[in-house]
Amino acid sequence: MKPKGNPFHLKGYHGAALFCDREEETKLLVQNAQNSVNTTLISARRMGKTGLIRHAFSALEQTKNWNCIYVDVFATQSLAEFTNELASAILLKFPQNNSIGKKFIQFIKGFSTIISYDAYTGVPEVSFNYTQPQQPQQSLKGLFAFLEEQNKPIVLAIDEFQQIAKYPEKNTEAILRTIVQTLTNIVFIFSGSHKHLLLEMFNNAKRPFYASTQTLSLGEIAKSAYTEFIKRQFLLHQRTIDEESVDFILNWTRVHTYYTQALCNKIFAQNTKKNTINGVYNACDSLLQQQEDIFYQYRLLLTPAQWKLLKAIAKEDKVFQPTGTYFVSTYQLGNPASVRRSLEALVQKEMVYNRITAKDSYYQVYDCFLSRWLER
Ligand SMILES: Nc1ncnc2c1ncn2[C@@H]1O[C@H](COP(=O)(O)OP(=O)(O)OP(=O)(O)O)[C@@H](O)[C@H]1O
Ligand SMILES: [Mg+2]
Repeated sequence: MKPKGNPFHLKGYHGAALFCDREEETKLLVQNAQNSVNTTLISARRMGKTGLIRHAFSALEQTKNWNCIYVDVFATQSLAEFTNELASAILLKFPQNNSIGKKFIQFIKGFSTIISYDAYTGVPEVSFNYTQPQQPQQSLKGLFAFLEEQNKPIVLAIDEFQQIAKYPEKNTEAILRTIVQTLTNIVFIFSGSHKHLLLEMFNNAKRPFYASTQTLSLGEIAKSAYTEFIKRQFLLHQRTIDEESVDFILNWTRVHTYYTQALCNKIFAQNTKKNTINGVYNACDSLLQQQEDIFYQYRLLLTPAQWKLLKAIAKEDKVFQPTGTYFVSTYQLGNPASVRRSLEALVQKEMVYNRITAKDSYYQVYDCFLSRWLER
């Protein structure tokens, strides 16, 4: 059967055939689940953490021996909201017409809760009604106890986990850790993009989660694998794309998954049988043009010195020594101390990313398309 639609997705997980590589990482997540090892999954934003979790879930669920639950706590601001998200995720996994779902609904009715369903998506939302400060902790214990009792083992992925460090309840980590270490039927994947926060949580001997997980740092997909993947997707739709174009795409997007997918999606949308470099240039122009209004907005959020520094970093692409003489004088950035201050502000605002590898450490404009736009 001829595949339908644009094969380059920008949202969600669309099955193994439209998922590029990540074989080693998937294997590791599956093995960790099978061996009761919790994993901390860390990467830059938009590198593919959530996609990888979904992909590993799909591999685990194919064996029919696992129940996989995904909860995103990005929008939560307290332990109470965390319990709401977790309960909603459990109900999404075990809907009310399923035998476990029925039991779960009975179970949460024992607490004071409201269950509602999104009118458009049908996604359930559970909301606990708390009147005492100790109650969120009790319902959290209850939710985990419910999962612990299930026949099949469970993998629970908590995405954007660093969020819990921002809750007003300063003991959230300790509360969670205490519960987590008693569980034998649940394996965890804690994931997020705030590397410092997560590493601090899991690698600082003074923190409750110290040394309790294996860290998986997700980098770029290998260029050769992505090249293969892009060519194959075009071919499956009876189209071609030449080597020069694919090479350009991967360099221009730094092989950063979301940006590569977005550019490929744009090129594919041009509906051309033989794709060559001119079509790719057009797609790049049109992507940047589409986002220009947002890019101008960023400028209003930054001081002139920060904006100037951001442009300079974009022009260099990678900056290894941001306060070094070459960089500061080439772009006339003023004194190194104020460059340092602006840089800290840009990193804090997530406009600039400090990439630290085993070999080196450098700064880049975080949003690859913004970087390409500024560079012009
Ligand atoms: N291996 C892959 N092959 C193809 N597309 C992928 C792959 N991994 C991720 N994607 C796509 O790339 C985009 C970004 O991925 P994803 O949302 O998983 O990143 P993330 O690291 O979770 O981002 P964020 O930090 O914003 O949560 C999505 O559109 C996703 O569908
Ligand atoms: Mg994500």
